[in-house]
Amino acid sequence: MFGLAAFRERLGMAGGETNSDDTIVREVFARAGAYVMGKRMFEEGEVRWPDNPPFRAPVYVLTHHRRDPWVRAGGTTFYFVSDGIESALEHARQAAGRLDVRISGGADTIRQYVGAGLVDEIAIHLAPLLLGSGRGLFDGAIESPRTIEPVAAVHSRHVTHLTYWFA
Ligand SMILES: NC(=O)c1ccc[n+]([C@@H]2O[C@H](COP(=O)([O-])OP(=O)(O)OC[C@H]3O[C@@H](n4cnc5c(N)ncnc54)[C@H](OP(=O)(O)O)[C@@H]3O)[C@@H](O)[C@H]2O)c1
Repeated sequence: MFGLAAFRERLGMAGGETNSDDTIVREVFARAGAYVMGKRMFEEGEVRWPDNPPFRAPVYVLTHHRRDPWVRAGGTTFYFVSDGIESALEHARQAAGRLDVRISGGADTIRQYVGAGLVDEIAIHLAPLLLGSGRGLFDGAIESPRTIEPVAAVHSRHVTHLTYWFA
């Protein structure tokens, strides 16, 4: 992802490859009008994202810890939500307008939204790297009240992009 022009642009960097992966990354950002993420994903980004983070839209961070909104350059503001996943989603929906709400991760957050039947589409970008350990997206018990339908599978040299809809 870091070699792609679309992602480099989002990080304020020049250059990068323009290929089918790049087109997909560009579309992912263009479709999203607001984001939801878990506190652990946020904490890692807090120290690594540039002053102008890649989102350029409101980001609702699920957390048990109260904190004032954190306004960054370029249109990204992080809001900290402590009253549940439905509340975070509702805030994000209001902010996104006609665009998508993207549940960015991590796994814990995605599992909660899938389990509550609140996800319409899931995109998995599968790279052939064996990490050996870590937190799996679907580790542990997870059930969805909705059924999952495969929609698209496209691949490049580096990654297979899988799209599913929840009916
Ligand atoms: N590179 C990427 O683009 C990317 C994307 C996604 C994830 N990741 C990686 O994934 C890892 C994090 O994933 P994760 O599954 O461990 O954690 P996560 O989903 O990012 O965050 C989990 C934390 O969010 C808070 N939280 C979650 N649900 C909540 C709820 N309903 N109410 C209140 N607070 C809630 C809790 O933190 P508190 O109790 O502390 O508030 C919880 O410990 C990180 O290593 C991150 O780098 C990377």
